Amino acid sequence: MNDAMILRMPETYDKIREVTTEMRFTMASDLYTGSLLKTLAATKPAGLFLELGTGTGLATAWIAAGMDEHSSLVSIENNALLIEVAKKYITDSRVALVLTDAYEWILNYHGPRFDFIFADAMPGKYDLFEETIGFLNRGGLYIIDDMLAQPNWPAGHEEKVENFINQMEERDDLHITKLNWSTGIMIVVKK
Ligand SMILES: C[S@@+](CC[C@H](N)C(=O)[O-])C[C@H]1O[C@@H](n2cnc3c(N)ncnc32)[C@H](O)[C@@H]1O
Repeated sequence: MNDAMILRMPETYDKIREVTTEMRFTMASDLYTGSLLKTLAATKPAGLFLELGTGTGLATAWIAAGMDEHSSLVSIENNALLIEVAKKYITDSRVALVLTDAYEWILNYHGPRFDFIFADAMPGKYDLFEETIGFLNRGGLYIIDDMLAQPNWPAGHEEKVENFINQMEERDDLHITKLNWSTGIMIVVKK
């Protein structure tokens, strides 16, 4: 099996990737994570999806590519330049791209629960985790990447990651699988 052979990319992928590279935005999800997000998104027909940290919209495009026509995705980003790229290329009525601070958004959210959360920013992952996991439906997926140590991690980040993983593993209400693959993925399901 050649897991690097990733077919059926989102239509907008190449264009967004090109602009992302030109902007030197290095925090975008890789192809493996993108492909996994698309596949998992397809398990939630008529689902409500949330992404925290849109960046330029690469993962957003993958998630949208896996969603059916009755699903919808809200994606939150606080950097206007980055989300502008996503807005330019992802013109999909199922996708709401929201320029706001995710800390404030999480603390003020009182809407319906989500079936799928891709938490790709500090808020919703290392911060306000309890609130964010509380937004998940039973059977809902909470997905995070960037869990494997990187040379550019700031001092103390590795310990933060370990503590975060331990905190999740201590809970009885979650099923967790850790994938030592891509940038280090965790797939978490709410019981
Ligand atoms: C890892 S990148 C996201 C990459 C993107 N999901 C992708 O897969 O291409 C994290 C993003 O979170 C955004 N971010 C950081 N703090 C934020 C906050 N408080 N509110 C909203 N977005 C935030 C950053 O600007 C950055 O674009």
